Amino acid sequence: MSKPFKLNALVIFGIFILGFALDLVAIRLAGFFSWLALVFLFISHFFYFLLIIGLLPHRFNSLIVSLSRLRRWFRLSNLTHPLLLRLSADAPGTFYHSVMVANIAARAAKMIGADSLLCRTASYFHDIGKLKNPQLFIENQPEGEIKPAQSIQEINDLKKHVDEGVKIAQEANLPKEIINLIAQHHGTTFCSYFFKFMKKRKSKRFIEENFRYSGPKPQTKEAAVLMLADSLEARTRVDNGSIKEIVETTFEDKIKDHQLDESSLSPREINKLKYAFIETLEGIRHQRVSYF
Ligand SMILES: [Fe+2]
Ligand SMILES: [Fe+2]
Repeated sequence: MSKPFKLNALVIFGIFILGFALDLVAIRLAGFFSWLALVFLFISHFFYFLLIIGLLPHRFNSLIVSLSRLRRWFRLSNLTHPLLLRLSADAPGTFYHSVMVANIAARAAKMIGADSLLCRTASYFHDIGKLKNPQLFIENQPEGEIKPAQSIQEINDLKKHVDEGVKIAQEANLPKEIINLIAQHHGTTFCSYFFKFMKKRKSKRFIEENFRYSGPKPQTKEAAVLMLADSLEARTRVDNGSIKEIVETTFEDKIKDHQLDESSLSPREINKLKYAFIETLEGIRHQRVSYF
């Protein structure tokens, strides 16, 4: 017997006992208690009990399942999960980036009716694989000492943060919806920055395929939203150009590279997402204006 079903049966049985006891008190107070009345009362309550058991178990079941799911998700999304505390201490740049991605992704997901809470929560955890070697990632390097990856080995280590993230999430028993989004957040994206860098150095050991993440591509709307929010947060940080142009270019790149093909996003939803991203990112940039 499944846990929710057991709980479900217990709740219904509790209602039965409580109703029966209250009626008993009512009869007693009315002053016409008789054993025959008691038997009829028991039989009538037993039929109610059967009726509830017959009609409502699935409703109760799904209500209890959704309530416990909601509780679990709220716990994961309040930034006090041990993994997130570790991220904020050991990889503060990645932690800040993840919080920004969460805000951007959650708002966009809401706009197209996707699971906004899943997007927010998965965004917090999407780069936990960087915990393995935080200093390799520029967002965690001290200002003035920024050193992008320069060797094939370092680029492979960068790409590994996806698999490391999946491993860490599995060990921490995170929900599989989050693990899937961690696995898909870079899809099979091409690391063009590193490719161009190696090409300039005329390295003989570069093959285009080595500069791609191993995937899978986003399989759901939520995974696609996370991928886009992740790229946009990173791009708007280094590119001071127009937000509208950055959003258009990012979408164009992902679409041309077939990264959104398996996510089931419709053209209408893509337009809504662009609008949501532009609005949120322009709001964030505005907050960066110094009033001192
Ligand atoms: Fe990442
Ligand atoms: Fe990221």
